[in-house]
Amino acid sequence: SESPNSEGAQYDFVVVSNRLPVDRVVDDTGDSTWRRSPGGLVSALAPVMATNDGAWVGWSGGADESLDPFDHDVFHLVPVRLSADEVGQFYEGFSNATLWPLYHDVIAPPEFHRTWWNAYKKVNRRFAEATAATAAQGATVWIQDYQLQLVPRMLRELRPDLTIGFFDHIPFPPLEIFAQLPWRRAVLEGLTGADLIGFQRPGDAQNFMRCVRRYLGVTFRHGQARISPEGAENDDDAWTLKVASYPISIDVAAIREMAAKPETQERAQEIRRELGDPTTVFLGVDRLDYTKGIRHRIKAYGELLEDGALTVGEDVLIQVASPSRERVESYKLLREQVEGMVGRLNGQYDTMEHTAIRYLHHGYPFQEMVALYLATDVMLVTSLRDGMNLVAKEYVAAKSDGSGRLVLSEFTGAAEQLKQAILVNPHDIDELKELILLAKDMPADQARRRMRAMRRQVLTHDVNHWQDKFLQDLTDLKTPETS
Ligand code: G6P
Repeated sequence: SESPNSEGAQYDFVVVSNRLPVDRVVDDTGDSTWRRSPGGLVSALAPVMATNDGAWVGWSGGADESLDPFDHDVFHLVPVRLSADEVGQFYEGFSNATLWPLYHDVIAPPEFHRTWWNAYKKVNRRFAEATAATAAQGATVWIQDYQLQLVPRMLRELRPDLTIGFFDHIPFPPLEIFAQLPWRRAVLEGLTGADLIGFQRPGDAQNFMRCVRRYLGVTFRHGQARISPEGAENDDDAWTLKVASYPISIDVAAIREMAAKPETQERAQEIRRELGDPTTVFLGVDRLDYTKGIRHRIKAYGELLEDGALTVGEDVLIQVASPSRERVESYKLLREQVEGMVGRLNGQYDTMEHTAIRYLHHGYPFQEMVALYLATDVMLVTSLRDGMNLVAKEYVAAKSDGSGRLVLSEFTGAAEQLKQAILVNPHDIDELKELILLAKDMPADQARRRMRAMRRQVLTHDVNHWQDKFLQDLTDLKTPETS
């Protein structure tokens, strides 16, 4: 039967994420256009959008901006409006000062405010309504990430005909931490509106199932459970929810192609020359976020300089810290701390010619990032908690000559796939120091063996593989068994 809300809706495949897959670019004359956002998720979904009559529902990134749906390259885009207050309360507040720190092991203290929660509910409802008005009868909808956890259930109530997938890009916390959330039941009810929920690691899926059992009284068998609408007296309107892990990856082909370009390789050599031809280039690339362990990395690096184990001129650390969530208090504080540390170390160890840490508070174009990977001997990924960490996978994909060493925090999702990395507990500063030196001094043949094994993993598990697996599982759930 035709659902009452599906009138005018026409798209068979709808992706829903907080941000639209395009960024605004303003040219010299002040005119603004759109450019496809960088990142694996967007490039992986582009072909699916083009061949499946797809649409993408999301926020433009601006405040108080009313935009009509529009087309840009392969995407049909459906903008969701946020007022300036909602940017503060839904995005900076509940999403990034409540959920983000709570889901990342409370590295920063989460704040619980009822006004922020109300904004979260209201904005999630707006996303659900925009999606309901976009999806065709029987369409597949794929909702992304922690900003939109209430959308699955809200959408199912509006449009029970849809097939609903949800993917959580960040960690799902252990019950003992999730328990702090005053709205824990409502969040779990929101998520369980989906047919399939994907997590980065099996451990995240287990954390989630344990929370659902505790707070909703629903038990999973082999990753599946029957969920009934609130107040249901029988099983007629119930659905089966499946929960599993699908570790996300990167657009491997795009990185390899960029790494193979002579211009990219020349730029990599130029970067080393400009740094004064050091023996060892260390690199960190992160959004400036307290989950990334940037302070731990700089502390270890500074102590190695102090010990004389590393030397300015011979060794250099490039730290790219791209600006992120700059109006959120914990991010302002982190920036002060990191820039204080870098300033003190450089003040102490720099020479007229050389720097200890080349600190760059910018984002860079894709080609420059790949050139940086090629110019680097040792990549440092020291997150205190990280859903996946795609920088680690990008570094591995870029190193087609088999060179390069990866120091990787065991608290990343990526550590479960990149087992031959030099795995570290970044809280253990002595161990971190030892392993930084181990990476630098590791014999070339041993380092190559490790890199080759990691490359085999990444090259056979790219983001298309991730997406195919998730969408295939989602389809299978809804296909009645024929035998
Ligand atoms: C993480 C989140 C994404 C988010 C991105 C950038 O990767 O999982 O959902 O889009 O950070 O953060 P921002 O707040 O700028 O969207």
